[in-house]
Amino acid sequence: MDQLVLVNKQHPLKENYFRGVEMVETKDMDDGTVRVEKETFQHFLELQKFCKEKGIDIVISSAYRSLSDQQAIYDYYLEKEGEEYCEKYVAPLGCSEHHTGLAIDFYVKEEEKEEYPEADDEINTYEKYEQIHPFLKDFGFILRYPKGKEEITGYAYEPWHIRYVGKLVANLIDEQKYTLEEYKEHFSGVLVINKEKNMTSFDVVEEVSRLLGIKKVGHTGTLDPMAEGVLIVCFGEATKIGELITAYDKEYIAEAKLGMETDTYDTEGRVMKETEVPENLPIESVISSFQKTYLQEVPIYSAVKVNGKKLYEYAREGKPVELPKKEVTIQEIELLSHTKDTIKFRAKVTKGCYIRSLIHDIGKELGIGATMTSLVRTKQGNVSIEEANTLEDLKQGICHINSIEDVLPFPKIEVDTDLEFKIRNGVKLENTWNIKDKVLWKNQEGKLLGIYEVKEKQLRVWKNFHN
Ligand code: DAL
Ligand code: ZN
Repeated sequence: MDQLVLVNKQHPLKENYFRGVEMVETKDMDDGTVRVEKETFQHFLELQKFCKEKGIDIVISSAYRSLSDQQAIYDYYLEKEGEEYCEKYVAPLGCSEHHTGLAIDFYVKEEEKEEYPEADDEINTYEKYEQIHPFLKDFGFILRYPKGKEEITGYAYEPWHIRYVGKLVANLIDEQKYTLEEYKEHFSGVLVINKEKNMTSFDVVEEVSRLLGIKKVGHTGTLDPMAEGVLIVCFGEATKIGELITAYDKEYIAEAKLGMETDTYDTEGRVMKETEVPENLPIESVISSFQKTYLQEVPIYSAVKVNGKKLYEYAREGKPVELPKKEVTIQEIELLSHTKDTIKFRAKVTKGCYIRSLIHDIGKELGIGATMTSLVRTKQGNVSIEEANTLEDLKQGICHINSIEDVLPFPKIEVDTDLEFKIRNGVKLENTWNIKDKVLWKNQEGKLLGIYEVKEKQLRVWKNFHN
């Protein structure tokens, strides 16, 4: 099931949506049977309980609708109110959010009234619905057809129609004052994830994409499954700056076992050699001697390609291949602790450095071999692990999203409408600002327009953003 599915006049609900959707039955305000998606209903019950404690009695007036239910509603209102009303308030067949089971029309019960008023009379009683709106997000709901967004949603303001999207997205939509349409199309940013062990970086990307309901998601700087820690994930337009974030320096805390070598340089591989570890190894001095720039051999168990083929494929097929070497700089390296046959150290390194290989090289220098046993990325650029969210945080609705500007160290310049037009069209500019590398342009409403870079003494478009 896609909990964040967008259903509107342009996007009818697809058949395959119903795979894995569990519906529950309950009673509507007229004691008729109504069906609601299970998680949506659980959260509605919580909302209902919360409202009750505030003295507000909310009930379901409509939830899941089959195609024929919607047809009947459409026909009823077409007859009673006419086409113009239907255009504003009733979804065409197949295009109603009510088909998903994730939408609920609620009603606020008033004791003194015997009969529920008809839709028309409701217009003057919007306040009674509006008193609930500030709390919707805490229960994972959004107001789907807000006031002032009629052009975007395609419907008139409906203070009774709420949609379950989960706490995380409900909070984000509330913060940004977006509709679901705007969120799906324009929401972008950078998320710092604290990856747990045994997940690939791609697993994290997929999970973030699912939790945010956003298709365009990418990670910067792969972390192997056995590694944990900072994995910076970009989504929406922010995927355009992925390569810049990938290039940031990284800091790790690594542990290694001495006297052992494996084919993968970590404990997931096959043991190739074991050596007795002598007493009094010069661990400290060997470690500090690695604070240098050197040509590091790319490990054979890596996805780096040689002649169009990944290195680990050569390894698996047992085919010989010359391992490429890359210049890396170990900017800082510090031994944190050690025993006779284990070491733990912190290292700050440049892009492309493999800590597995660094450990392998340290092992060689010590003359007994070494294998990585654990790896935590603690920093990438200025982003530290302390500010990272786990995927569990995200599921609980907790997440801090950085904007593109937050994570890029370049100057930001606000431009007038003339310049905005030029920038949006990628026109080259004279470097009157004396920019050294790159510059971020913003318009007067604070919207990020694009990034230019210095090239041949001019400012030229590097990336433009469409928002
Ligand atoms: N009232 C909403 C737009 C629907 O019919 O689904
Ligand atoms: Zn509705």
